[in-house]
Order: sequence, then structure tokens, then C-alpha cells
Amino acid sequence: MKILFLLTFTLSIAFGQKQIQVIPQPNEISYGSGEYYVRKNIAIVALKELSNEAEFLAEVLEKGFERKTKIRSNGKGIHLKLIPDENSLLGKEGYTMSVGKSGIEIAAGTPTGIFRGIQTFRQLLPVSFEFGGLEEKVAFPYVTISDKPQFAWRAFMLDESRHFQGVDQVKKMLDQMAYLKMNKFHWHLTDDQGWRIEIKKYPKLTEIGSVRKDTQVARRSEERTGVPHSGFYTQEEIKEIIEYATARHITVIPEIEMPGHAIAAVAAYPWLGSLGTTNEVTVLFGKMEESFNISDPKVIDFLKDVLDEVIALFPGQVVHVGGDEVNFGPWEKSPDTQAFMAKNGLKSPADLQVYFTNQISNYIDSKGKRMMGWNEIMGKEIHEERTSEAVEVQQKLAKSAIVHFWKGDLSLINQAVESGYDVVNSNHWDTYMDYTFGRLPLSKSYAFNPIPEGLDEKYHKHILGSGTQVWTEYLPTNESLEKQVFPRLAAYSEVGWTSVQNKDFERFTNSLELLKRKWSLEGIYFTN
Ligand code: ACM
Repeated sequence: MKILFLLTFTLSIAFGQKQIQVIPQPNEISYGSGEYYVRKNIAIVALKELSNEAEFLAEVLEKGFERKTKIRSNGKGIHLKLIPDENSLLGKEGYTMSVGKSGIEIAAGTPTGIFRGIQTFRQLLPVSFEFGGLEEKVAFPYVTISDKPQFAWRAFMLDESRHFQGVDQVKKMLDQMAYLKMNKFHWHLTDDQGWRIEIKKYPKLTEIGSVRKDTQVARRSEERTGVPHSGFYTQEEIKEIIEYATARHITVIPEIEMPGHAIAAVAAYPWLGSLGTTNEVTVLFGKMEESFNISDPKVIDFLKDVLDEVIALFPGQVVHVGGDEVNFGPWEKSPDTQAFMAKNGLKSPADLQVYFTNQISNYIDSKGKRMMGWNEIMGKEIHEERTSEAVEVQQKLAKSAIVHFWKGDLSLINQAVESGYDVVNSNHWDTYMDYTFGRLPLSKSYAFNPIPEGLDEKYHKHILGSGTQVWTEYLPTNESLEKQVFPRLAAYSEVGWTSVQNKDFERFTNSLELLKRKWSLEGIYFTN
């Protein structure tokens, strides 16, 4: 297979065969000689079990042909075919696509695989096709593609606490993720600067917690915008977004921050806090002092109530509970917290955090879900300012937790996987899209490998994949946001999908030109 592939590949180059340009780069492509024409009256042939995918494809075709596309169960046309046996070969998201004399077939073991294959099909259409670029027929080169992702976790995180985006912008991002075969939308919904998800039992979380009266405009700046900022999602809107994502085979991972990044919640219900002084949503950015008072059982009950509503809303398996950058100061100063720690044999605030996190993790497990958190949940020291705290953490994080690595020595990843944890690698130097292009150039995003160098092969399965994040403190508009995200999102799609031996920055940047033309047509801002 490999030899045949290399041979056809070499021949196709020798004979000037035009290479297909698809991002993320498919893993195996072999070219035939000839072209198949997709004409205006083409039908889609698919059984009922693929009606969601067939309808998605029909809408794509209708945009370019400006004609209703028929979906039928047999006959000629673009065939979408579920072959359950392919599951073992192609996994949950892999697909094959063949274009030849007899037409086009996309086959997979699952509807998700079919959907991913449809994205490849879309990228073989002329760029203007979906934007009213009226076509009579489109030539497809004879080609056979066999493709599956390198990693099961290919996430994009949007911080909506710092700046609220709204339903339309979220759908726009989900469309881009789908096009690039990304599969986890990590939704950062709560933080110090705003609580963005309706919780029916605690209405003040959004009445008070979703509004701040002003906003710091830049790092270390005294300047403020002078205008209030607010916004939140009702549970109905959340359901609408989940449905939109699900139709695109994207799982939504909600993030509800605890025990730190809690000011907006504490502003709504001051009894949740450790400081006793927080009474409004902060207008400033940076590491804040407030944390939930987790030594109070009422606060634990509150967090479980919130999680109950979150779990009922989100069908995905994973609930992200943040856990990063907890300021231990208020716990160290609180006699109640100190007494709680002494009673439970907790030697340090980091032990207290792990003890708390395990309670939450067990609760989430008991609901049939799985907890994820930033890597501080392991109790390891990663913040330089806490060097005085040399106490070894005694508490051990529950094994079911997914560790979301973002900061610290890379050896922490090795330690985590060697201890049996699953890890998503979002090392901030490599994956934070709010960083300037000087600090994180496109080539660096592209080169990122979620598997740390030298990690023993037997642990690779514990690296679920990676996430890329956009923190929106200083990205108040959709233009500023999109200029950080694009074109990087395309690079991360290859980080997650394409095997290392198929990654090639030059080929990627050539194909990217097509994507840029598409983004221009659909009104997406990007950095050139
Ligand atoms: C983080 O960037 N605080 C996870």
C-alpha cells in the first residue's frame, strides 16, 4: 500500500498532476488519472442513518449550484456509506474518499467519519463555491484518500468571561472548527470578570455576575473603557449551541472555574467567598485574590448544584473545572480554613485544593461524567511566586481526572502519564492564541507536537491530544479576536489531525492561501 502510494504520488508529480490542497493534510492520498464531474443535478445517496450528514452535504452543494440536491437511498450520485467494519481500521473519525470513473464515495465506520470526509470534499470544491459562486459543474481529480486523526482530542477554547461573544460568533467559530475537523469546543464560561451561563437555582450568578461596570483596556494600564460589559447564555441558548455543535460532530466541554477565578460568582453570592470583602465583578485582569471558601459545606453544595445543572445541559462526557492560578492567600489568612485543614490533616493549601478537587471529581464521576482541570489540580508547584511553599503535597488526585497541561516543567506531563493520568497538552508557549505573532509565530504553532520529546512510547496513549486557547482579556471585538485565532486555528488542526511525517510547513502555507481566500469571502478576519 505504502509503496503503491509513493509510486502514484511520484508519478503524479512527474506528470504534473495537481496536488489536492486540504487542511488538515489527509494521511494517505493516491492519485489516479482523470477527472470526475460533479454536476448541478447530482444526488446524494445515503441511508437514513446518515441523514444529518447527507443534509449537511446537500446544503453545501445547494450553495454553489443554487439548486435543491436530492437525497436518495440508492442509485447514482455522491455515495455516503457506513461500513461498521471500517471502525477498527479508521477509528471513530476516520474515513475514506474515492473519486473515480464511477463517481464519488465517502465511507466510514461512523457518521462522524462521514462528516469528516465531507469536509475534505468541501475543500476540493472551488473556494468561491459556497459563496454564490454559481457553478454548472465541478471537476474532481481521480483520487483515493484514507484518513484518520492522529489525536482524539483536538480542541479550541474560547474565553467568554473576559469578553462575551454571543450565539452568532460561537456558531461562526464552530463552523470553522468543523471545516478543519476539530472536535472539542472548550467553552470557558466563568471567571473573575463575568459569569456567562444561566443557573436556574442561583439567578444572581447572571443577574449580578454577568455584568461588570468597566474594563481595563491593556496590560498594566490604568486606562478603562468607561462602559459596562455584560452578557450571558440562557440554558435555551446553550442547548441551541450544543445542538449546532453536535450536528458538526463537535463535543462541547463546559468549563466552570473552581476554586479560583471566582470573583463574579462571589460578587453574586458573597457567602461563597474566602475574603469577605468581594462585592462586585472585577474590571481588572490578572491573577486575583478571591477563591471559593471550600472549607464551608454550603459552598461545596453550591458547586455541586451548579454542576448538576451543567451536567444536565451538556451531553459530552467531560466537565472542565478549571483549577488554575488559585490564590492561596485568603485560605492562609482564614481561621476557618486553617481549622478545616488541620481537622482533615491537610498540610498545605495545595493539599486542600487537591482534597477539594477529588471531592468534585468523585461527584462528577458519580454522575457518569469525567472531570478535567488545568494541571494545578495535581498539586504540583508551577507558580514562581510561591517558592516559600516547599511542602510536598500528600493528597493524590483521583485517577479518572484528565490533566490539562498548560504551564510548568514539561516533565510534569511525563510524571502525570507515568502515574496513569490522561493528559491534554496545551502548553501555553505553544498554544495560546492571544499571544502576539512575535511571541508565537505561525511556524511555532504548526510545529507543536502534543507528545513531549522523549516520552516513552508506552505512555503515548495517555496524551489524548491538544487544545488551543484564546484568552480574551484584551480582545474586545470580533475583529481583534479573529485576528489572533486565524490563521492559527488551521495550524492547530494539523497539530491534532495530521501525522508527524505528513506535516510540512511549506505545503501547509501554500494550502493556507485557499483558506485565506475563503475567510475573506465569509467575512472572517485573519492575520496575514
Ligand atoms: C490559564 O491560562 N490560567 C489556564
